Formats: sequence, C-alpha cells, structure tokens
Amino acid sequence: MTKRLIFLGPPGAGKGTQAQILSETYKIPHISTGDILRTAVTYKTPLGDKAKGYMDRGELVPDDLILDLIKDRLLQSDAAKGWILDGFPRNVAQAKFLNSLLAELDLAADRVLYLAVPDEVLISRLLSRQRRDDNEATIRRRLEVYRRDTMPVIDFYQEQSTLKTIDGDGAMENVTSALKEAIA
Ligand code: AP5
Ligand code: MG
Repeated sequence: MTKRLIFLGPPGAGKGTQAQILSETYKIPHISTGDILRTAVTYKTPLGDKAKGYMDRGELVPDDLILDLIKDRLLQSDAAKGWILDGFPRNVAQAKFLNSLLAELDLAADRVLYLAVPDEVLISRLLSRQRRDDNEATIRRRLEVYRRDTMPVIDFYQEQSTLKTIDGDGAMENVTSALKEAIA
C-alpha cells in the first residue's frame, strides 16, 4: 500500500519524533511545515523573514505563505511514493486545500493519525526541550491556537472516517508500535 499519512496532534505530542522514525521505516519523506519554516528563518529567506514573528509568538503563519509551499513539496518526485505530513494541515482551510489538491492528482490520504497527549505532559516535554518557541508564553499560545484552529481539523477528518486516535502518552517505542499497527 502507498502510504500517504497525516500526523495530527498538539505541540509536543511527538509528531516530529514519530514521523522521523516512520519515514525511515517506510522510506517515504517526512514533510514538516515547521521544519521547512525554521530552515527558512535560519537562512533568512523572504519566507523566513515573513514567518519568524508569527512563529515566535506561537501564531499560525498565514495560509498564503503555506499553501504554495506544501503544493510544491508534494509535487516533488520523492513524494510520489508516499509521505508523512507533520504540522499540516493545521486549520480547516488547509485541510480543504489539501483535499482538493489530492483530488486533482487523483490521490487521497491513506491514514490520518491523531496523537493524543494530556496538556500537562505536553507542557513538561516542551519546557525540557530548548527550541526557540519553547518558552512558557509561546507554549501557552501554541496550545490555544491548537484548540481554536487545529482541533476542528480532527472533526473534519473524523467525518470522513479516515482518522485513528493513538495514545501518544507512553514510551516512544510503544507509540511507534501503535502507529505501525494503525497504519498496517
Ligand atoms: P511545528 O514545528 O509544527 O511545532 P508544533 O506543532 O508546536 O509541535 P512540536 O514540533 O513542538 O511538537 P511535535 O508534536 O512535533 O513533538 P516532538 O516530536 O517535537 O510548528 C512551529 C510553528 O511553525 C507554529 O507555531 C507556526 O507558527 C508555524 N507553522 C508550522 N506549520 C504551520 C502550518 N501548517 N500553518 C501555519 N503555521 C505553521 O516532541 C516534543 C518533545 O517531546 C521532544 O523533545 C521529544 O523528544 C519529546 N517526546 C516525543 N515523544 C515522546 C514520548 N513518547 N515520551 C517522552 N518524550 C517524548
Ligand atoms: Mg514538530
């Protein structure tokens, strides 16, 4: 089966960690909009200059900066054999855009995997990491934005019945096994 996978979950849920591992297992690219944006910020590209303030505040970067970027990335040759999307779609407009793009290509996502982790675990994980946006104020804002904009995406996919919920509050290898089982 081709694997076109979408990882959803709050900040700190382990989307990036698990996507990295499974992209190696399945030999498909791990496409993280957060990583793409952070690279753009590091290299001070026009995209990075526009995105930086939003990221530092924990706000979503505007859709017009994200949609073309994800379209170009999904059309690259390595994405033909599948992909893991991490951090996209992040609001319902992005989810609808992705649906139309995939429909145009006569494709669909095979699984949408939602990593569920309680807030107190998320906060402690993020506070013990040291990314630029892992400070208390920005974490709080990221969680608010997640609830407001990204939780509706879970309902969106639930209605299309492609969503599976995975308990993300366990040892990394247990989460990896649960994901593999849900993908198989
Ligand atoms: P993004 O980079 O996507 O960050 P995020 O959603 O806040 O999530 P994180 O990367 O913090 O968490 P994660 O779920 O990947 O967890 P991780 O594996 O790292 O977005 C950053 C910003 O970019 C956004 O705020 C926004 O501004 C912008 N942006 C990105 N995409 C966008 C989009 N589509 N539209 C608009 N704006 C966008 O794990 C976290 C920590 O926990 C790590 O230290 C890890 O080692 C640890 N950990 C993981 N799993 C476990 C486990 N099972 N047990 C113990 N520790 C664990
Ligand atoms: Mg991440």
